[in-house]
Amino acid sequence: MRPKQSALQFFTIISLFLVLLFGLFYILTQTTLDKNQQKLPIPILLEDMDDNPDVSVYQLVAQQGTMEFLSGKHTQTLGYNGSYLGPTIKVKNGELVNISVKNQLNEETTVHWHGLVVPGEADGGPHQVITPFGEWETRFIIDQPAATLWYHPHGWGNTASQVYRGLAGLILVEDEASKALNLPNQYGVDDIPLVIQDRSISSLGQFRRNQHMMRRSEDYIMINGVIHPYVEVNKGKIRFRILNASNEMNLNLYLSDNKQFHQIASDGGLLEEAVIRNSMFLSPAERVEVIVDFSTLKVGTKVTLRNGRQDIMTVIVRDQFEDTSQLPQVLSKIENTVTDSLMTVRSFVLSTMGNTVAINRKSFDLHRIDETTTTNTPEIWEISVNDHMMMGGQGHPFHVHGTQFRILARNNQPPEKYEQGWKDTVFIQNNETVRILIEFKFKGLYMYHCHILEHEEQGMMGQILVE
Ligand code: C2O
Ligand code: CU
Ligand code: CU
Repeated sequence: MRPKQSALQFFTIISLFLVLLFGLFYILTQTTLDKNQQKLPIPILLEDMDDNPDVSVYQLVAQQGTMEFLSGKHTQTLGYNGSYLGPTIKVKNGELVNISVKNQLNEETTVHWHGLVVPGEADGGPHQVITPFGEWETRFIIDQPAATLWYHPHGWGNTASQVYRGLAGLILVEDEASKALNLPNQYGVDDIPLVIQDRSISSLGQFRRNQHMMRRSEDYIMINGVIHPYVEVNKGKIRFRILNASNEMNLNLYLSDNKQFHQIASDGGLLEEAVIRNSMFLSPAERVEVIVDFSTLKVGTKVTLRNGRQDIMTVIVRDQFEDTSQLPQVLSKIENTVTDSLMTVRSFVLSTMGNTVAINRKSFDLHRIDETTTTNTPEIWEISVNDHMMMGGQGHPFHVHGTQFRILARNNQPPEKYEQGWKDTVFIQNNETVRILIEFKFKGLYMYHCHILEHEEQGMMGQILVE
């Protein structure tokens, strides 16, 4: 009897001990973070200096700054109204927006509203130069559905360098239709912007722009200006607005455990219906809005956002408030893409040959107009990539200013559901052809270009005059 009893006691004690040990281990892994990990900063909302609800007056200042991305290292940066990146500008469909931009840099700059449908002179492209210590004032009426857009410099020859040093910010367009959906929309709480960028920092702590387009060990991925941050979210539905603000890096994003999420928007606004996904590809300048449901996870659970094999953000689930937001299946009504044989078809061939890049064999010329068209005239653009590179070519994100377009076909196949909404940037792989349906609402001179900013800088850009 006795030996049996003591064996039983022994096992009870051992198993109790093991349970305790695992419990402790579980608690530790669930709640501790890398002690250096910083909280995800949320860009502030730019203050509207006008009381009238239908008018917004904003002011941006492009300035120099310093940041400590790596502890003890002070990186020289640029920012709008701050040291790095810029405030988020919220606008409403239908309102009049007046923005003045002060240039406190000792170099020329411009501010381009990427994705906004505005007249050419308000677009902020290479023709709207703001001289050093000069100022530019522009105004336009918002005339498009709710979307996540962005702004960044666009001077001819210095876009890549200025964006790399930190000049970029988000623009959120809101409208009544999207408000009525009751999607998560408490900015920074359950509606979280993620501006993702790749940055290389030298041993002296300074930005070093990657000219040869290969990832190196000093390359970091920053989100809202922080390397590998953490964010605490409510145990419920969380909307992330994701912008790939990198100069050249494509993102392949997914969540740990291959957690599914719903994509609800593409570049120019809400999709017709939410699409279930478990990973996604984002080329430079592309945006998506997704909703991740954390309600079934235990408080304290950590979910990792990954890019390829790299962890880029930790999400920690907390019980903060009751989630009253919704995710309806139908999100918007987007008009059908109707084409006819009378429409003008324009072809654009993007090519790379060693260090030279071109569109239709031409390199950008600020004084040459490459294409002309008229307002409210839908046309078809056929864009293809023909790279002659040692490593097979890398593909290019093709972007057009002043409009939102629709993808008709990718290699003669209808686009995936998540590519059927409004777009202003489309990634085209080597040897691929994409057909888009495009039309301009306003007059002016607009750019179209590859959004790998080093390619844009080397001349993979053209101009279309809309009359
Ligand atoms: Cu993001 Cu020519 O622009
Ligand atoms: Cu643009
Ligand atoms: Cu390119």
